[in-house]
Amino acid sequence: MSKTFLGHKVAAYDPQVRGDAITGERYYSKRWLEAEDKDLWSKTWHVAGMAADLEETGDYISYNIGTDSIVALRQEDGTVKAFFNACIHRGNRLVWSDIGAVKQLACSYHGWKFGIDGMLNEVQDAEDFPNGDPCGKLKLVEISCEEYLGFIWVHMDKDATPVREWMGPIAEQLESYGMENMTRVMCISSEVDCNWKIIRDNFNEAYHIPTLHPGIATFIDDDYTDTVFEMYENGHNRMVMKGVQPSARSDKSDMVQAPLSDILTFWELNPADYEGKTAQTRIAVQQQKRKLGKMKGYHYFDPLSDSQLTDYYHYTFFPNLTLTMGPDGFQVLRSDPHPTDPEKCIFEHWYMVPHIEGQDEVMTPIGLLPFEAADRDWRTYPDQTLGEVADQDLSVILGQQKGLHSRGYTGGVLTHQEKRVQRFHELLNDTVNIHD
Ligand code: FES
Ligand SMILES: [Fe+2]
Repeated sequence: MSKTFLGHKVAAYDPQVRGDAITGERYYSKRWLEAEDKDLWSKTWHVAGMAADLEETGDYISYNIGTDSIVALRQEDGTVKAFFNACIHRGNRLVWSDIGAVKQLACSYHGWKFGIDGMLNEVQDAEDFPNGDPCGKLKLVEISCEEYLGFIWVHMDKDATPVREWMGPIAEQLESYGMENMTRVMCISSEVDCNWKIIRDNFNEAYHIPTLHPGIATFIDDDYTDTVFEMYENGHNRMVMKGVQPSARSDKSDMVQAPLSDILTFWELNPADYEGKTAQTRIAVQQQKRKLGKMKGYHYFDPLSDSQLTDYYHYTFFPNLTLTMGPDGFQVLRSDPHPTDPEKCIFEHWYMVPHIEGQDEVMTPIGLLPFEAADRDWRTYPDQTLGEVADQDLSVILGQQKGLHSRGYTGGVLTHQEKRVQRFHELLNDTVNIHD
């Protein structure tokens, strides 16, 4: 089925859901953690890091996912190869830092040395191997690796479907943003006290916005009847909300409040002209952006649709990656499983922005930051902020993690607008083999 929405041709897919119970056990049992490690994490694409961090030959990034660890290195021919971060001799982890540069990968246990192409180049006592010197014959175990949209993507299956194909119709939608030219100005990681799926469920619905994020209603139309929810056959989905206009469900929807008033002023419109006429602010800003964008140093508008100049495209990939594309930049919001504890996860919150001529600072989810590539910033929640809106989302995770253990939770009662949550769990039920 194909239709047009906000200037984009989309292949809409509204799958039937079965109404499987969303069992509490999946959020806290070791059984689920182990089954997911086997059936889920080894069978999907992951963002391992930024392509910009692999500038020179031998630059590497490492990425830990569940019980495994992966290292991706820039090769002499400019391509990137990824390997399991485990020595083939006796299993020792090869690199510990999440970013670095090497001439070769040297194992700290018995000194085996691997080239950046994974080939074993040097061993101690080469004559002592029953089958002869293994150098030039054995390699680290290589996995699939691609550079796409400014990210390094990895998949533990060497013969994985290419990332672009895995993304389906979303790939084309993302390509207009010029993500490969953006800079990661914020890179927050934190171990938080909930199962990774609690965060997924949160990003798979917008029903919580009026309760947890009431401030959003001043400049994003979060009314569900005005929001587009779409699910794709491959398990991914998107939600699109109109920005630069107040929420239709707000009782102040005809008022121009901050930050909407600031956006109008920045784009040389008079907020007072739009009091009682807020249905016009979104289109007015789109027109001003087209007219004044280049003059104000915004050189990335041309390939964007009018809608993309103001609206929020929130893409959630199955199983655990969300990209929220806004008019000024985009966020990576990911929850990775904890390797051993099902009641913890690793929450990643990154913010990427295009360069605006003349601006050396940028407004991010944690406030103003310099326009420069950020180092990874490990934070402790809730002592440190993980971003204003993210903190609001995370404020309920402890309560939910505890409540899901209760005999009083019996599998969920969902609204229609939470259908993506239902679908997510049904895909999970179909993917993860739980044996009694
Ligand atoms: S485990 Fe790596 S050289 Fe022995
Ligand atoms: Fe939220």
